[in-house]
Amino acid sequence: MKGIVLAGGAGSRLYPLTLVASKQLQPVYDKPMVYYPLTTLIESGIREFCLISTPHDLARFQQLLGNGKSWGISIEYREQPKPAGIAQAFLIAETFIGRDDVTLILGDNIFYGGDSFQRAFAEFKGGATIFGYHVHDPQRYGVVEFDDDGRAISIEEKPKQPKSNYAVPGLYLYDNNVVAMAKGLRPSARGELEITDLNVAYLGRGQLRVYRLSRGFAWLDAGTSSSLHAASAYVQTIEERQGIKIGCPEEAAFRRGFLTLQEMETLTAGMPHCEYREYLLNAVAETKRLS
Ligand code: G1P
Repeated sequence: MKGIVLAGGAGSRLYPLTLVASKQLQPVYDKPMVYYPLTTLIESGIREFCLISTPHDLARFQQLLGNGKSWGISIEYREQPKPAGIAQAFLIAETFIGRDDVTLILGDNIFYGGDSFQRAFAEFKGGATIFGYHVHDPQRYGVVEFDDDGRAISIEEKPKQPKSNYAVPGLYLYDNNVVAMAKGLRPSARGELEITDLNVAYLGRGQLRVYRLSRGFAWLDAGTSSSLHAASAYVQTIEERQGIKIGCPEEAAFRRGFLTLQEMETLTAGMPHCEYREYLLNAVAETKRLS
């Protein structure tokens, strides 16, 4: 399965922070925001990536992430000229997707906890898989309604009267039909190709699976100054308490076996002396000791 990281948008809610660097390049505690969704997909076993951003910001992402080789992954880049909706990503990335299944993650979604995603990826057999996460303000999101047997029966984009408290987070898994289905979408009232319309289409075909994320799971978005600050505080709290990092792509790639011990040593040798490098050296040392 291939992976798309969608890091577009004007980031206008974070102005003036986003005058120079786009939203997904802003720091979330000790790393750029885009490290978190990338790590989530690496942890789920994704190795081939396409990052989509605005023509203005794309070069900055390339500067930060390069071709991914030093992390044992590959990253291609594509432009989204205008913010015309999440589902447009499947049209922009058509040649990247080829004949494969594909997962898409939003560049400002931060996830932490449990193995729900790894399980969903391992169990994926076609159709579409999305998630439901209990929130107090569902009207801000895509909202999924369940019947008494826990089956998804409707999904609505930013409904005024939500039918449940389960929001759909920005991580989606699709089979290869997604490209053809995205081509059949028409722009919504806000002028966008809606990811929710795609999910509704899969639901209509009886091919949508929705996993409810459990209580211990954290889903944070970092699109406003206050949620950005809250996300940083959350990451700091967990990292300082546990001595482990959230959203560390090098570590995830290493643990997943995308990087050998030797490649990891070369990678850390090229880093300045800093806390991040120390952390990775410890992770390597621990692996050496336990193997
Ligand atoms: C988008 C999707 C919405 C989803 C949300 C997750 O919202 O349209 O269905 O719940 O991402 O972050 P938007 O970013 O357009 O507000």
